[in-house]
Amino acid sequence: MARILIGVSGGIAAYKSIELARLATQAGHGVRVLVTANAERFVGAATFEGITGAPVLRGEFDPDPARGAYPGDPTPEHAPISHLALAERADAMVVAPASVNTLAKLAAGFCDSMLTTSFLTTRAPRIVAPAMNGRMWEADATQANTATLRERGVTILEPAEGALASRGERGRGRMQEPTEILAAIEAALASAPPREPAPEPLPLAGVRVLITAGGTREAIDPVRFIGNRSSGRMGIALAIAAAARGAEVTLIAANVTLPVPPGIERVEVTSAAELATAAGSAFENCDVLLMAAAVADFRPTGAAGDKLAREGSGGLELHLEETEDVLAGLGVRRRPGQVLVGFAAEHGGDFVGRARGKLERKGIDAIVVNDVSDAAIGFESEENEVTIVEREGELLVPRADKAVVAEAILDRVEALRS
Ligand SMILES: Cc1cc2nc3c(=O)[nH]c(=O)nc-3n(C[C@H](O)[C@H](O)[C@H](O)COP(=O)(O)O)c2cc1C
Repeated sequence: MARILIGVSGGIAAYKSIELARLATQAGHGVRVLVTANAERFVGAATFEGITGAPVLRGEFDPDPARGAYPGDPTPEHAPISHLALAERADAMVVAPASVNTLAKLAAGFCDSMLTTSFLTTRAPRIVAPAMNGRMWEADATQANTATLRERGVTILEPAEGALASRGERGRGRMQEPTEILAAIEAALASAPPREPAPEPLPLAGVRVLITAGGTREAIDPVRFIGNRSSGRMGIALAIAAAARGAEVTLIAANVTLPVPPGIERVEVTSAAELATAAGSAFENCDVLLMAAAVADFRPTGAAGDKLAREGSGGLELHLEETEDVLAGLGVRRRPGQVLVGFAAEHGGDFVGRARGKLERKGIDAIVVNDVSDAAIGFESEENEVTIVEREGELLVPRADKAVVAEAILDRVEALRS
């Protein structure tokens, strides 16, 4: 059975679209209804919702509680970009009744509601059933708009002659009967070329992934800092790979000079404290956290307000204080379903054992550890070799380009989410 999208605009005949929705649902189709604001002055959304068993949508900014699914479809795990989802999945779209106003918008290509946006974007056969007073139907503009739509391949179900809503008035303007409209929908479905199977949804579609990258800088004075050699390459490789898997990516970049492709939200930070604040505010809304940044463990106590002068200083002693453990702090706040992955650069010895200790202390799901005693991998290098340590088991990802390592890490993230 087909997925049918019914658009209802503001006119007396809107009551007939309730019957259309009922007939289409009874015929076994999955029906979703879009209304204009004015349509709801004539009919109530609750009636359509009761008949179709699915929420009615209005504005293009409103989230779809059914996540773009038609009755009979499984509800997707993640919310799609809802102003396009219903149009994309429709097998046929009908606007009934099409008011003079909505007809003009459809012809002009307006996108100011879910109805007009869906009509513009759907690839499915489109049917329009105008309903209006006879003089409005005969008006030059209405005729020109109807001709424009017809030229674009839209099926126009011309209004019929007969008694109009205005008392005592007759003329051409009556919307075609719901049975006739449904017959036109069935005919359009029968002659439409078979749709290509919907592409498999991307594995991280709609998943919000927060990634930190780069290395923090802790001020000594206004011009000097204590930093580290992290370039941000690993974090950026993760951001690119996660976005390619459909994720909504936010990258918190600490002193990263490398660019990121469009579509990835980038938040710039400098110090560990700034990174903690940025990560803290984005954390609640993320599903996956990948803490790839090298965050300072210590910072100078009280950075000097003015540049420190060498002359007459007799040397400089720095006192360093501990910074906050960002990941451990977030681990305490985690909500069920969130996946938290830490990164650790360890120097030789039993680096995997030390990483496992951190995993347990910080209450996270996995820790990606590399041995920075090997100069060929890790900081500033295009390549990396890591061990992904999880609560149960560990996986060695042999030396490879950071893009390849990123894919291996995201495979594990997907497994941890399932
Ligand atoms: C009682 C009443 C009945 C109306 N009937 C119709 C109609 O049958 N067809 C039409 O095109 N407009 C009709 N209108 C005017 C539309 O509701 C108006 O143009 C509105 O802006 C349409 O908005 P929409 O296209 O966004 O739904 C009627 C208005 C009123 C007050």
